[in-house]
Amino acid sequence: MFRIRRHTLGATVSITVLAVAAAVALGGPERVAYPENYAATFVRYMTVDKPEREPPIVRFLYVAPDALAMARPGAPLPDGTVVVMEDHLARLGDDGQPLTDANGRFLPGTEVTNVFVQEKRAGWGEIYPPEKRNGDWEYAWFRPDGARRSDRSMDACFECHRSVADQDYTFTTAPFVERVKGE
Ligand code: HEC
Repeated sequence: MFRIRRHTLGATVSITVLAVAAAVALGGPERVAYPENYAATFVRYMTVDKPEREPPIVRFLYVAPDALAMARPGAPLPDGTVVVMEDHLARLGDDGQPLTDANGRFLPGTEVTNVFVQEKRAGWGEIYPPEKRNGDWEYAWFRPDGARRSDRSMDACFECHRSVADQDYTFTTAPFVERVKGE
């Protein structure tokens, strides 16, 4: 019995050591996993047309349903919140201009061109200096097949999203919660 317990403890210790080593090695964007199957399991809460982009794009915004359920207006988004921004090219007509629906909104192509993820976990921000830190948010960029864009820096993500620190560093998510759950 004693031997079994000792063995179990040893295994636990080595697993813990491995986990700590992995956490240290995976500082930064690598801590954000590609959210498998998000299109089927997350809530698509907004669509944003970007006419100023060349070529024009349409962005689908998704948030993890558990985070949305726990989110409160005016409060920071819950620990563990995952937000996905999925880019599509806008469909163009013969004249090269974006095709629109009855409301003047762009018609998105089905193909996904980029997947951007924003995820917050308690303590994640601690590795960043105060002038860069975005609370406990981390950013990641993936190809449509889920492969990480390791060739890209995430510095601009932090810099630009800092401008909406008062909305928990989100341009659309916290305002959406405010709109649907606020009074
Ligand atoms: C120059 C400013 C800017 C930069 C740089 C930027 N973003 Fe954003 N981000 C925005 C804006 C504005 C939105 C709202 C959607 C829109 O208008 O495109 C947004 C939305 C998002 C969202 C949806 C949640 C939210 O905040 O509304 C995610 C996820 C996201 N960005 C991830 C990233 C990642 C990852 C990077 C870096 C690879 C990045 N962003 C770089 C401006 C920026």
